Amino acid sequence: MDFLPFTRPDIDEPTIAGVGEVLRSGWITSGPQVKAFEAALSKLCGGRPVRCFNSGTATLEIGLRLAGIGEGDEVITSPLSWVATANVVLEVRGRPVFVDVDPRTRNIDLDAVEKAVTPATRAIIPVDLAGLPVDRDRLYDLARRKHLRVIEDAAQSFGANWHGKPLGSFGDLVSFSFHANKNITSAEGGALVLPDERLVPLCEALRLQGVVRSGEDGMESNWHMFQVVLPERMERAKFIARMRDHGIGVGVHYPAMHLFKLYRRLGWHEGQFPHAERIGRQIATLPLFPRMADSDVDRVCEAARKVLS
Ligand SMILES: Cc1ncc(COP(=O)(O)O)c(C=O)c1O
Repeated sequence: MDFLPFTRPDIDEPTIAGVGEVLRSGWITSGPQVKAFEAALSKLCGGRPVRCFNSGTATLEIGLRLAGIGEGDEVITSPLSWVATANVVLEVRGRPVFVDVDPRTRNIDLDAVEKAVTPATRAIIPVDLAGLPVDRDRLYDLARRKHLRVIEDAAQSFGANWHGKPLGSFGDLVSFSFHANKNITSAEGGALVLPDERLVPLCEALRLQGVVRSGEDGMESNWHMFQVVLPERMERAKFIARMRDHGIGVGVHYPAMHLFKLYRRLGWHEGQFPHAERIGRQIATLPLFPRMADSDVDRVCEAARKVLS
């Protein structure tokens, strides 16, 4: 008799073909496909902003950080969940406070939540166990009355509805997981739905080591980069934009790190490393990869000559 697992991901041929396309494209980290996926998710979530991460654990942690949860803050949650639900509270130095579940739904008992609120309570993480939604009306009524943030652990409930409204399309922060055993999967991955566009820059910064990407940077390569340092008369952003008009991508690796806000706060300042600062301001990475043809190299040179003349 065949073994019947409790779950098995269903990966169809178009998905396999789609992955092949991505692998062949050469852009295998977060790129256009992730952007398109985020846009599709946002549509399902009533147009609210959605950002993808590498797990539903990361989305919970970032959700807590975006809600301002930190040192000593109490976060009430269910003891009946995957352990990530509480671990993320420890990760941000908060204190997970468990309350019992309702034996009928197996979800967090909202009466017990109300009783557990103390002056140190800052947030609730409700969990929709097995995909059954926690009572959103009572949850948000309680959160409003007690001035608490909600980070919905909807890892298991993507696609579920509350009175006809898809989870994620309303409420505070909502965290989905696309881990292999979920209803839809990206093997590993998660999405965070934000209640407010204004949280997007911080969310994106937290996703990438505090770095905010502009539209033009971020081409990635190994150390075989072909880099030029532009003359001071040429503003790098203009060079990049004009090369783009010629259909050529240009990267930036790297602005001098000691001038980032984080390191300025630690005491570093402009003028300490004049070489790194000048190069960091003017450096540009031109295309170079194994499958470039000689004609591509000619195109890059021709475009650069025109842009710089
Ligand atoms: C309820 C619950 N919370 C959090 C997570 C964490 O998600 P991930 O495995 O994508 O990190 C999962 C999934 O495994 C989950 O089921």
